[in-house]
Amino acid sequence: MPEGKALVLFWTKNGNTEKVARRIFDTLQKAGMDVSISRINKELEVEYLDYNLIFLGAPVYENLSPKPVLNFLHRNRRRDGVELIPSAPEVPGVAAVPYCTYGGGHTGYNEAEPMLKHIGQYLEHEGIRVVDYLAVVGVFPEADESYNTDGRFGEIRQKPDEHDLIEVEGRVRGYLHQLHRVLPLGDLKL
Ligand SMILES: Cc1cc2nc3c(=O)[nH]c(=O)nc-3n(C[C@H](O)[C@H](O)[C@H](O)COP(=O)(O)O)c2cc1C
Repeated sequence: MPEGKALVLFWTKNGNTEKVARRIFDTLQKAGMDVSISRINKELEVEYLDYNLIFLGAPVYENLSPKPVLNFLHRNRRRDGVELIPSAPEVPGVAAVPYCTYGGGHTGYNEAEPMLKHIGQYLEHEGIRVVDYLAVVGVFPEADESYNTDGRFGEIRQKPDEHDLIEVEGRVRGYLHQLHRVLPLGDLKL
């Protein structure tokens, strides 16, 4: 079983999700974990069970993940040695947090939830415990300006800003405090 290992996966087009991914990475590293970070692309293959804590994130596109992420999730289900077993018995020593950035201009948080749960299902199918979901508001640069000023979250043109990223840091540290007794997260500096 791995010990003290974390993985941050992300896909981004305009950089919002990468900002969040890098802050998650920095927070885990500062806490003393052995962290890797990878951008999802056509070739990426990952063995989730080589890690103790996994963050998998992307922007919300039409209520779900963008195509490259959907393709990755689907492709990465079938790997050598991975069996999908009825009842998805939990694998000890590993947990995950799906995360996203999103504009939420129409219906707010409801736009993030289906995508987060969808990613979560891919992980839970393999027995990976999903401990939380993390949604961070980000500017929608391609949209009409009004989506970034008059949507459900109001003024979001600078988001995610430093305040949002400090909140991400706090959430990640919270997961480490929550999980360090039940997962082999290594010798953490908390
Ligand atoms: C094609 C497209 C579709 C989008 N669909 C949604 C959506 O359904 N709901 C939402 O809240 N935001 C939506 N957004 C906004 C993005 O989720 C948001 O801008 C995100 O932070 C972009 O992340 P990135 O900078 O990492 O690419 C969409 C953006 C694009 C480009």
